[in-house]
Amino acid sequence: MTTARPGTLGTPLTPGATRVLLLGSGELGKEVAIELQRLGVEVVAVDRYSGAPAMQVAHRSHVVDMLDPEALRAVLDAERPHVVVPEIEAIATAVLAEVEATGVRVVPTARATVLTMDREGIRRLAAEDLGLPTSPYRFVDSLADLRAAAAEVGLPCVVKPVMSSSGKGQSVVRTADDLDAAWTAAQTGGRATAGDGGAVRVIVEGFVRFDSEITLLTVRHAGGTTFCAPVGHVQVDGDYRESWQPAALPAAALAEAQRVAKQVTDALGGWGVFGVELFVVGDTVLFSEVSPRPHDTGLVTLASQDLSEFALHARAVLGLPVPAVDLLGPAASVAVLAEGTGVPRFTGVDAALAVPTAQVRLFGKPAVAGRRRVAVTVARGTDVPEALDRARAAADALTVALDPAP
Ligand SMILES: Nc1ncnc2c1ncn2[C@@H]1O[C@H](COP(=O)(O)OP(=O)(O)OP(=O)(O)O)[C@@H](O)[C@H]1O
Ligand SMILES: [Mg+2]
Repeated sequence: MTTARPGTLGTPLTPGATRVLLLGSGELGKEVAIELQRLGVEVVAVDRYSGAPAMQVAHRSHVVDMLDPEALRAVLDAERPHVVVPEIEAIATAVLAEVEATGVRVVPTARATVLTMDREGIRRLAAEDLGLPTSPYRFVDSLADLRAAAAEVGLPCVVKPVMSSSGKGQSVVRTADDLDAAWTAAQTGGRATAGDGGAVRVIVEGFVRFDSEITLLTVRHAGGTTFCAPVGHVQVDGDYRESWQPAALPAAALAEAQRVAKQVTDALGGWGVFGVELFVVGDTVLFSEVSPRPHDTGLVTLASQDLSEFALHARAVLGLPVPAVDLLGPAASVAVLAEGTGVPRFTGVDAALAVPTAQVRLFGKPAVAGRRRVAVTVARGTDVPEALDRARAAADALTVALDPAP
């Protein structure tokens, strides 16, 4: 397995190296790569395009279509990693099961990557197998069935392709007249291909009027399960814009959040950080979904915790101990988006960093086409509102210009 003995790590670029392969090399993978580098791990980064953020801090990289089983197999054969760390959902997961069967550690497990890449797998596991509270839902394969399902779960409802992320193909349906457009959006906006019936499968969920939504970062590691303080966040168009920690919630809701997170993550198994997304309604919580990896809203932990979610992930996946996480104090993060086409150039970095406690992470994305997150600001404060004010001030100070591609 990874090393001869627990707690043993080799030297990178030598025969004894401990090799970790990242599948997906975005800004979250970049932070994981940095944490692995700090432990002297040999890091190999993979993505569909060259120059991806994590590739810039890895020992080696490969540009590969990770949905192509042959291409993925070729990289795994060439690199012979000890640990495979998926950063995205869109992966030929059957190959992960193959490689896991040969003794390679797939994070958190190959089965968990299969269950969470599809909303149906994880929703049925949580609601039907584990009996956890969720929004009411139906899965449908046609517009006619969508109409019937929307009537059953009630309006408003949310329509999503089963395979999608960042809100792609997702719509809120307020009246029956919206259903046609929601169906079309789901058919074209996700990453799934049409099934036998000629359509992409869709989930219809009752719209939850939540008091707040949180991510409960949950770490499964060799010594058990550790929870981070809940992260509160605001989403716009399916992308997170601001997050903060700790999120204020009733004690009963926090206990329930931890119970739900423990059940879901135990059912998925393996080691690593999970981002358990929950809706808080009074003293109760509803399970929404889970990422078996660090979560974008958890970028706030770069400022808020002694060990960020990325440091925790690195430790957990290597089988190293994860102590109780120290929350340094209230903190917030603000996503910086760029829209258009070109190569980001940041101005106002000086002004952003003049904000007390503020830090920035400029991801180094080689190009933008459309709307993309290109940076994040994080800051601390005596309370969450002050931390948010500072993180917003730093984000406002940054301007992203898009230079023409060379
Ligand atoms: N049933 C629902 N009721 C109310 N709001 C919802 C519901 N489902 C989703 N949302 C809102 O839309 C956001 C995105 O939904 P969800 O997390 O299911 O999609 P996603 O595409 O996986 O997003 P991401 O990849 O950013 O996590 C949620 O964080 C929440 O704000
Ligand atoms: Mg989500």
